[in-house]
Amino acid sequence: MTSPPSADSSSRPGPPIIKALVAQALAALVVFGGGRMFASAIGINAPMAGLLAAQGMMAAIFGFLFRLPLWWLPIHLLLPPAVAVTLAWKLPAWVFPAAFVALLGVFWNSMRGGVPLYLSNLSTKTALARLLPEKGGFRFADLGCGLGGPVLTLSRVRPEGRFTGFETAPLLFAIAWLRQRFRGQGNGEIRRTDFWSVDLSDFDFVYCFLSPVPMPALYEKARREMRPGSLLISNSFEVPGHPADEIVSVEDRRQTKLHLWKMGEKEKGGEAD
Ligand SMILES: C[S@@+](CC[C@H](N)C(=O)[O-])C[C@H]1O[C@@H](n2cnc3c(N)ncnc32)[C@H](O)[C@@H]1O
Repeated sequence: MTSPPSADSSSRPGPPIIKALVAQALAALVVFGGGRMFASAIGINAPMAGLLAAQGMMAAIFGFLFRLPLWWLPIHLLLPPAVAVTLAWKLPAWVFPAAFVALLGVFWNSMRGGVPLYLSNLSTKTALARLLPEKGGFRFADLGCGLGGPVLTLSRVRPEGRFTGFETAPLLFAIAWLRQRFRGQGNGEIRRTDFWSVDLSDFDFVYCFLSPVPMPALYEKARREMRPGSLLISNSFEVPGHPADEIVSVEDRRQTKLHLWKMGEKEKGGEAD
């Protein structure tokens, strides 16, 4: 078992959610404090919609300065108007804790480990299927399987292999488990397990689509546990100081790259296993 790296292990210290909240709070202070005072000093009554849009933009700028990933940008821009509209609708009080719990159920690992949710597209799943051998009996793991897409697709197109997805975000796990239960094949399964506790020696192929944060520790875990000849595949994220043995370019809009490390082979520019 390996300890997970904290979000602090990246070059961007601090959990992203905290940085995002600080960005919004600072933006509110600047816009509703300073900006409003300035507007009234010069005799302009700034409309609320303008102030909310300004807060969104200011929060996006702070988020950028805090080096939050770019996918936070639309969240920053939309959050202030969304909160204002929700308050104006006078929604019942339970809606807010319910929304919070739902967000927690999805973004559980963004807060804990700096891994957000984005999903492998069909072209990537097709490229993954091509990496799998003709003969059956192999085992494939998706570490952090999100909604279970790769497990469901690959277990359908490669019935001769066994596919396991590991997920800890409660809502994502529930959806992936239900999808697998009602639409999946018998050679696929979804487990509510932290992948840091998974013994990777059970698998011939270990796939992950995570973030830069866990990659160095995950690579070390893979090197320690995976059997010679087995393959670690990282969608998009490299491991600093350990170049992949092979990179597969996927022909999709985001120009996905699959980084492949074959276990048991001598590392390029580094020590042997
Ligand atoms: C970017 S998504 C990728 C989803 C899926 N593998 C795919 O390619 O469509 C990463 C997922 O990893 C999950 N995750 C992050 N850390 C995890 C951990 N320690 N154990 C299990 N799941 C984790 C997140 O909740 C998230 O759903």
